[in-house]
Amino acid sequence: MAVTVQGVIARAKGAPVEVAEIVVPDPGPGEALVRVQACGVCHTDLHYKEGGIGDDFPYFLGHEAAGVVESVGDGVTDVAPGDFVILNWRAVCGQCRACARGRPWYCFSTHNASQKMTLADGTPLSPALGIGAFAERTLVASGQCTKVNLAVRPEVAGLLGCGVMAGLGAALNTAPVGRGDSVAVIGCGGVGDAAILGANLAGAVRIIAVDVDDRKLEWARQFGATDVVNSRETDPVERVRELTGGFGADVVIDAVGRPETYRQAFYARDLAGVVVLVGVPTPDMRLELPLLDVFGRGGALKSSWYGDCLPSRDFPMLVDLHLEGRLPLEKFVSETISLNDVEAAFGKMSRGEVLRSVVLF
Ligand SMILES: NC(=O)c1ccc[n+]([C@@H]2O[C@H](COP(=O)([O-])OP(=O)(O)OC[C@H]3O[C@@H](n4cnc5c(N)ncnc54)[C@H](O)[C@@H]3O)[C@@H](O)[C@H]2O)c1
Ligand SMILES: [Zn+2]
Ligand SMILES: [Zn+2]
Repeated sequence: MAVTVQGVIARAKGAPVEVAEIVVPDPGPGEALVRVQACGVCHTDLHYKEGGIGDDFPYFLGHEAAGVVESVGDGVTDVAPGDFVILNWRAVCGQCRACARGRPWYCFSTHNASQKMTLADGTPLSPALGIGAFAERTLVASGQCTKVNLAVRPEVAGLLGCGVMAGLGAALNTAPVGRGDSVAVIGCGGVGDAAILGANLAGAVRIIAVDVDDRKLEWARQFGATDVVNSRETDPVERVRELTGGFGADVVIDAVGRPETYRQAFYARDLAGVVVLVGVPTPDMRLELPLLDVFGRGGALKSSWYGDCLPSRDFPMLVDLHLEGRLPLEKFVSETISLNDVEAAFGKMSRGEVLRSVVLF
């Protein structure tokens, strides 16, 4: 029987988010009903609320979550009631062209389970990134549930479902950073700090954090940055070159996603180095670069979607590293809040006061 739960929705562009009653149907074939235990507030939720992603209001927000599978529909064998899972927004279908070519981290399948949830009056909802997890229960495709060791705290585990995975994966999977590399990370929010942590894990020797906010740079040191640059005061390209023997970094990760930060990333890298764009630009942004420099500097210009992660491979491994004390994911949790505090959390995020606010149920 369908259940009615409290959930956070964005009713109209720019309006404050609100807690509303949401009807969650029973799981159908291939679906799972999950009792959400924790859900982080991600910058992408704010993009949805501000109309930066689309105009399909009302949006059902929240997508960085962990919880316990409560029931499953017919044919579900990958997870069972009682499993502790992290939700992912790119489940592998095994059928599409990317999957068939052995590159499942580019899987383009879409999932319809969460679109079955509605407001109490039947109004359809658009779930953020096909999840909708600022609610006590949510309905997802079973492939969106990745089982992990239940010893991890839910507010930490959920973060791997989006921003922290994107940053870690930008360094570990997309670049990938190698032992002995020099790395610069531009933008030290949750995603950038996770990239710093990933570079550290991969064995980078020099990790240069670049931000416009000194408080963020101080936090970046706690994730393993060896040097910090405030790009409001110091030219980051020149400083990165100075810190790398005049060469530039082997890998530069842009975790902001603006033309000026991308240009800094492009020129702060060594010849034949790698640029990884993980920050998400807005549709109006344009980039101009001398084509001769694109040719002459060689190397690779990459984008990282969801850290090129494979949830079934990466989530359990990263949780295990955390439980062994080798991946301090708890440092990303600035505060735990209730469902009613999501609007206030967006304010704190915009003012740079937090890395992550996490709703705890
Ligand atoms: N690629 C993906 O799959 C993926 C997944 C999640 C989030 N993201 C994107 O990653 C980006 C970062 O997300 P976040 O949660 O870390 O955001 P955030 O707001 O927490 O952090 C952004 C950081 O960038 C800094 N910054 C802003 N302008 C700057 C500039 N000009 N130069 C240097 N630093 C600057 C800010 O001070 C802040 O520390 C966003 O665009 C988000 O949408 C991408
Ligand atoms: Zn696929
Ligand atoms: Zn997100």
